[in-house]
Amino acid sequence: MLYGADYNPDQWPEEVWDEDVRLMQEAGVNIVSLGIFAWSRIQPAEDVWDFAWLDTVIEKLHAGGIAVNLATATASPPPWVSARYPETLPTDENGASYWPGSRQHFAPSSPVYRRLAGELVRRIAERYARHPAVVMWHVGNEFGCHLPMDFSDAARDAYRVWLRRKYDDDIAALNDAWGTSFWSQRYGSFEEVFPPRLAPYSHNPSSMLDYRRFTSDMLLECYLLEREILLEAGATQPITTNFMGPFKPADYRRWAPFMDVIADDCYPDPANPHRVRDAAFQRDLIRSLKPGVPWLLWEQATDAVNWRPSNPGKRPGALMAESAQSIARGADGIMFFQWRQSRAGSEKFHSAMLPHAGTGTRVWNAVTELGARLAALPELPAPGRDARVALVFDWESWWAVEERDHPTRVDYLALSLEWYGALHARGLLVDIVAPEDVDDGYDLVLAPALYLLRDAGAAALTRFVAAGGTLLTGPFSDIVDEHDQFRDGGFLTQLGPVLGLRFEDFGALAGATTGGTGVGAQGAHIADSASAGAVAFTLEGSSFSGRLVAETVHPMGAEVVAAFADGLAVGRPALTRHPYGEGEAWYVATQPVADGLDAVVAAVIEASGVRPVVDDLPADVEVARRGDLVTLINHGDVDAEVSIEGTDAESGRAVDRLSLASQEVRFILAPAGPASRRVSARVDASAL
Ligand code: GLA
Repeated sequence: MLYGADYNPDQWPEEVWDEDVRLMQEAGVNIVSLGIFAWSRIQPAEDVWDFAWLDTVIEKLHAGGIAVNLATATASPPPWVSARYPETLPTDENGASYWPGSRQHFAPSSPVYRRLAGELVRRIAERYARHPAVVMWHVGNEFGCHLPMDFSDAARDAYRVWLRRKYDDDIAALNDAWGTSFWSQRYGSFEEVFPPRLAPYSHNPSSMLDYRRFTSDMLLECYLLEREILLEAGATQPITTNFMGPFKPADYRRWAPFMDVIADDCYPDPANPHRVRDAAFQRDLIRSLKPGVPWLLWEQATDAVNWRPSNPGKRPGALMAESAQSIARGADGIMFFQWRQSRAGSEKFHSAMLPHAGTGTRVWNAVTELGARLAALPELPAPGRDARVALVFDWESWWAVEERDHPTRVDYLALSLEWYGALHARGLLVDIVAPEDVDDGYDLVLAPALYLLRDAGAAALTRFVAAGGTLLTGPFSDIVDEHDQFRDGGFLTQLGPVLGLRFEDFGALAGATTGGTGVGAQGAHIADSASAGAVAFTLEGSSFSGRLVAETVHPMGAEVVAAFADGLAVGRPALTRHPYGEGEAWYVATQPVADGLDAVVAAVIEASGVRPVVDDLPADVEVARRGDLVTLINHGDVDAEVSIEGTDAESGRAVDRLSLASQEVRFILAPAGPASRRVSARVDASAL
């Protein structure tokens, strides 16, 4: 189990470094991410290089038994770069420059930035690739975090190259894909295409989708360029960068194959009532990016952050509870931003392992306790194919469904979290996958708002149901193809036969919104939805409401389980089920509110026969399975009782019933029953 933090010794005089190593040992730290923002210290001017300080720090850490995850330091170009090469600066959609003075002020497609960053990485790699202290490489930092899109001239030039490659140098193919007959947008050549800079009105949505793909690819290219240089210099250590969970600008599913190990930054908001659910979703998403390979929690806060409007600290015990949530869901490393609290700069109020107030503090005690407990854990099983439930979450669909000019505004992440929440609350372990990854290793699949559905995704979902799976999909799904264009034949063209439905109309509800802004490393929490428009439906004798839309769908073989009680679609199906092949496909024609969603999900769980990790889970107790390891966490404020037969992984004692105090964590070895299917073929052998 790795335990440690980002370490920024370049912010401190040399006298402090020895104390750092001593206190790291006291806290149980065994790894640090070193020098993430040290570019200006390593290369203070274009032809001046200073590695002496870094040599010293690495030697001290090595002598102290602390491993180094060495950064490539490319995330914040020094002032001389911006002053001498202004063409490296990114611009916003108005053409205004993002200026230096903060961090991440580089245009990812800028050839000059790439050349300068590449030279820095080459020098670092050549010097340290064979150093025994260096066990891993940290490329860049949170690619795209502050700058989700760049509209600079560098981006313009790179975009044209990217489009030429995508459309085989055939401008007619681009015109087809973007539907440019609309509004006189037909392009005569790739040189006529610009990034979607400020325009009088809506940009072509198909072009927006390509620009998002391009943006994700440019950030990935920066990572790959550095990775290539590290490998050329003889690096044999795992190479990675830090992800930010469900981060909209970067399609991490395309990135994952290039990470030797997935590392994630996660900052649950103590004020978010759904923080446990949201963080569980993030960790499940991260685990699902590289099935079978443990991932690393690369950054979390020991206490308060500095970047929300108000920054409360964590409740007592939450540090252990939140760390255990990661371990339970596949992590083999628990790390923080950062080791020692800064005394200057924008993050001086951000908590750290070593607070500015020193070691006689609540935070230091929590940090050392956590370190001791992690160090004493037995070796944990690798996360296997433990989940029998999957939630479909797709970046391209996310990008497309949130474009403007739709029947209603959908906050895709907020909606996915709501659907996930109904599974999480029941103690079901969930993989979070692309539609193409759905296979018969799952028994139940939920696919909310799958607006953009690629042919291969539709085929996988169809095969899944035909082979005996249970599918629940819902409003605003299967609307467009991969170019964000309607397919011929209306809507639900791919899944209609599986669902036994014909789709007629969206039935947007007035003023409906999903609310919220998303999670992620530095996102705000999801606000509870407040919708003006609502529709009623009755399920198993109880009345519920739906929001966003009340679609008109016609059964073509599907059984109507619930019907709308009011609105334009009154009497029409609100929830349907349809046997298809060996399985069954359900459709909900609105976004059910709270209890309604819970009731709908309960119905499909029942139909699918999937069982939770433990039965009768008390509210606020979280459970997850990782191979034979079952982790139980009481996130609530009162004691809770859970029945589970197994062996306590820490004490070795047999258990059958547990009493968990508030924030208490127990790790129990309890082999999965025969009902749990295992598919070892998906396990990637390139484990850390
Ligand atoms: C991110 C960054 C860190 C730091 C933290 C603060 O995760 O990677 O450098 O800014 O946020 O929460």
